[in-house]
Amino acid sequence: MVESQPSKLLVAGSIPVSRSISLVRRLMLPLVALSLAAQSRDTNPHTSPADVAEGRRLYSLFCVFCHGMDGASGRGARLATTFRRHGTSDRDQYRVIANGVSGTEMSGHFLQEDEVWRILSFVRTLERGAPASPGACAVDAGSAVSGRRVFEQRGCLGCHSVGLEGSGRLGPDLGGIGAARPREALRESLVAPERAVAPAWRAVRVTLRDQSTVTGFLLNEDEYTVHMIDMSERARSFERRGISSMARQAGSTMPPYASVPPQELEHLLGYLCSLKGGSQ
Ligand code: HEC
Ligand code: HEC
Repeated sequence: MVESQPSKLLVAGSIPVSRSISLVRRLMLPLVALSLAAQSRDTNPHTSPADVAEGRRLYSLFCVFCHGMDGASGRGARLATTFRRHGTSDRDQYRVIANGVSGTEMSGHFLQEDEVWRILSFVRTLERGAPASPGACAVDAGSAVSGRRVFEQRGCLGCHSVGLEGSGRLGPDLGGIGAARPREALRESLVAPERAVAPAWRAVRVTLRDQSTVTGFLLNEDEYTVHMIDMSERARSFERRGISSMARQAGSTMPPYASVPPQELEHLLGYLCSLKGGSQ
């Protein structure tokens, strides 16, 4: 699923230059109109839980391929942090989402003003819990090394990747987790993962008309189809009319590590704190 997208983008990128320039011109006009509309407001007027839910749906259609549902696992800028290169205010982020960042893969989007605001409401939930500056999780080189061993022995890579290392897709990438979370938040993630599950990582159980069920994470959904990754990391797609029900699962799919011996846990935290690489 996720892998199939870049090739599509490559195809789009191979339009002859002359044509792509006129395309760009044509695309510019509505974008300028959108950005003018934004000048009228400084703060997001669409922040209710229903707005966040709708924003999540739109994000899963337009943004997930580059930013990941967790805002950390794609090739776009990391959104699961409060750091924003192009400004943190609602207005700054509105501008980036609507108009893009010229000279980068982040292009503008054909969205209504209220859609942009709703997406931003969802993007705000990705940054929640993250400190404004890196370094809140102090690195201790010794414990990072022993913690790395614990990380391998406990099978964390079965679900997580760490930057370019590992291919676990059943949990968020941890490559920049030490920059994005304070130590105590990481401790809670390990001993009581169910306490703070980001919306993107709440598992969904789909029951099909033939009564079989599939549990996994939503990648993308529209009026007709639901795309997900199941717990064996297989991409699955279902037509809506073949689905009899869909329900979000309570809790986290990450097992709690509350019974890990205290010293091992501290080492593990030391290793996680040393992972500062994901934030660009
Ligand atoms: C084709 C890939 C791609 C898509 C699709 C995409 N982005 Fe981006 N996005 C990027 C890249 C790359 C950057 C970094 C730009 C730069 O170098 O400053 C970025 C930057 C951003 C930033 C600014 C981050 C900062 O530090 O200031 C925000 C916010 C953002 N994207 C949100 C979104 C949202 C919301 C969507 C969907 C509507 C979206 N992006 C779709 C690739 C993408
Ligand atoms: C069965 C899959 C699975 C295994 C095994 C697993 N995790 Fe997770 N992990 C997840 C999922 C799913 C989430 C996101 C939901 C949540 O926060 O509970 C997560 C979340 C986390 C987070 C919080 C990330 C954030 O953005 O705040 C950390 C830290 C973490 N895991 C570390 C570990 C470590 C260390 C291990 C090994 C000791 C491990 N995980 C083992 C699936 C797993």
